[in-house]
Amino acid sequence: MNNSETNIDSKHITTKVLYSMKQKGEKITMLTAYDYLTAKFLDQAGVEIILVGDSLSNVIQGNETTLPVTLNEMIYHTKIVQKAVKNALVVSDMTFMSYQVGTKEAIENCGRVMKETGCNALKLEGGHFIAETIRRIVEIGIPIMGHLGLTPQSINKFGSYKTRGVDKEEAEQIFSDALLLEKSGCFAIVLEKIPSKLAQKVTKALKIPTIGIGAGKHCDGQVLVTHDMLGMIEEFHPRFVRRYMNLAKDIRNAFKRYIKDVKSNSFPTDEESY
Ligand code: KIV
Repeated sequence: MNNSETNIDSKHITTKVLYSMKQKGEKITMLTAYDYLTAKFLDQAGVEIILVGDSLSNVIQGNETTLPVTLNEMIYHTKIVQKAVKNALVVSDMTFMSYQVGTKEAIENCGRVMKETGCNALKLEGGHFIAETIRRIVEIGIPIMGHLGLTPQSINKFGSYKTRGVDKEEAEQIFSDALLLEKSGCFAIVLEKIPSKLAQKVTKALKIPTIGIGAGKHCDGQVLVTHDMLGMIEEFHPRFVRRYMNLAKDIRNAFKRYIKDVKSNSFPTDEESY
């Protein structure tokens, strides 16, 4: 088997690398990508983990929640992301209802995503109710990233995108779920929108890295939705999103300038023609 077939040897970031980064106190970076070019830029920039998040349901498909995106659509996007990546670890989100019904179906669906996309790991949302399924999936050789706190696939149960783990009971549940996910074999856990103090307690208690989004500075790593941090989504600006660009404005301006140039006959010039 050659390297171009497996793409394993040419990759530098593995779950083991992430584990040792935590031990050394090196912060881990993770950002989302749903397409080839974005994945290429992220990989070239040196991000350790590229997540093909089911947030593509919101960002790319314009849905209100992450529930409608299908496994086939995730496979399509993960394949094209994977093609662009040489160094980062590519993680693909398992979709709503692709792993919750039963362990057998979860294993089959996870296996299918790994086989058809060539990605390196999968992310599943949830704690105790999914722990045994995760244990079985990891046992057969599929690395799993957990996801606790605000788990968007459960938005209809939560009823809002408010911070989770604020009250004592939910905080204790998140803490014990994190311990259980580590025991079940997860190589990392995303902590979404929970109090910084709770994320600190979880991070301290675990040997595997925590990756925070709206969970404060004590996590071992941070993740953002790339389109949010580039300022492409103007309607959504929670305080945990730091914007590094105002791309929505820049893109609109570029389109407006193009329209103006065409209408005024200043594009194309002779130099831009054959
Ligand atoms: O789908 C996604 O983009 C995610 C991140 C927000 C962690 O799950």
